[in-house]
Amino acid sequence: MADVSNICESADEIEQPVVIGPEAYVSPDYAHDEQARLWRKVWLQAGRLEDIPNVGDFVTFDILTDSVIVVRTGADSIDAYYNVCPHRGRRLVDTPPGQRNARGTKNNFICGYHGWTFGIDGKNSYVEHEADWNGSLCGGRADLGTVKVDTWGGWLWINLDPESGPLSEYLDPAARMLEPYQLQNMRPRWRKWVVFECNWKVAMEAFCETYHVNTTHPEFMEFGQFRGWARNQKLHSNIGYEAPKGQEEDSGKLRLGIGDARLSTAEMQNFTWENANTNTTRTLVDVANRLADELPEGTPAAEVSAYWIQTAKAEDAARGVIWPTVDPTHTAQAGTAWQIFPNFQIGHAVNNMLCYQARPYKLGDADHCIFEAAVYELWPEGEAPETEWTYTEPQDWPPVLQQDFNNMAAVQQGMKNVGFRGAQPNPYMERSVASLHMNLAKFMGIGAPRKAEGRND
Ligand code: FES
Ligand SMILES: [Fe+2]
Repeated sequence: MADVSNICESADEIEQPVVIGPEAYVSPDYAHDEQARLWRKVWLQAGRLEDIPNVGDFVTFDILTDSVIVVRTGADSIDAYYNVCPHRGRRLVDTPPGQRNARGTKNNFICGYHGWTFGIDGKNSYVEHEADWNGSLCGGRADLGTVKVDTWGGWLWINLDPESGPLSEYLDPAARMLEPYQLQNMRPRWRKWVVFECNWKVAMEAFCETYHVNTTHPEFMEFGQFRGWARNQKLHSNIGYEAPKGQEEDSGKLRLGIGDARLSTAEMQNFTWENANTNTTRTLVDVANRLADELPEGTPAAEVSAYWIQTAKAEDAARGVIWPTVDPTHTAQAGTAWQIFPNFQIGHAVNNMLCYQARPYKLGDADHCIFEAAVYELWPEGEAPETEWTYTEPQDWPPVLQQDFNNMAAVQQGMKNVGFRGAQPNPYMERSVASLHMNLAKFMGIGAPRKAEGRND
């Protein structure tokens, strides 16, 4: 019998050291069970609203063997259906080879096998030789099955469980805390995806903590060290940095650096733009590059920061890009990124965001995931570029992300070592890892973090 007395089931309990067994990361049985216990029960981010602006626009979203069509059915209405023909089960909308998902516009969906046809309302509108069924194709039997769908933050969210609670309840407090950032107004700058050789949790956990930054991304150490925190937030969690007092920071991501703040800010911004292409915008980089010209030598760091942010904000406003205003006390609470249970991360700021999602690749395969990242920002009205999800081999991702990829592949290997005794996340800086597994265990019934032996409670 497994000892259940040392299992952590509450936010308090994961504030202390825990151990997380490798099963959730490497077990094919666990991976298989995730479909019924997890993926068919939770709200999942399934696309962006701007991808379906007009009536009849649709996107598909696949999660393991399940596939969903999300379609705009009216100016203010979105519906979702199982992507399967009710006649004999042909997948209704195919994913074009090599693409992440299908996307297009239709007045109706026609099955490629025998021609059954469905309106965008999901109702069957044509069956060849319908009379042969003697009137039995009634009561919705010839219609598409409906899937729960809702929107928040500019995203489409689906839930395969008809009994699931509302999205707003599910997302709390993440949605409430992120509301001031007006994420629905952002549009992508780039979107990349790849099938990667690690479990989806290993992928998500490579980005949900700041503890790895000094070792994995040592280049960032030059720009000053900040202590990161992580907090449980019901099903979700968030992370942030403790910003130095008196420093006007948009968020912990906008670091000033050390030494001459004018120069180090520019250096940091250029490095980030070139090597990560995220967490900043062209405006912030351009203004940073002028700081040495526009401010006298010896300007205190806090003043450099304030000037940089205020100038960038004003220049964006002049081109029609209005940053929302967020109260500094709220910024401190909201941190720099939210881990939305189970598999989505939003790295928010007032003018840009970086989002990650990882899903299992094949049913029962613990060792591969579909990993994707998208970088968004605010654009002047009508100037957001058209972007598509681009399949990108690991070596073609921004260099900073490749550093994370190296860890992800090696963690998946390492966790299978018979000598691995379970993960021991930093109780303060990596609490998001413990939070994920505490919540996963509520769905999966196994895999909860255990109190570390020798813990003093
Ligand atoms: S399977 Fe779709 S029409 Fe036959
Ligand atoms: Fe990283």
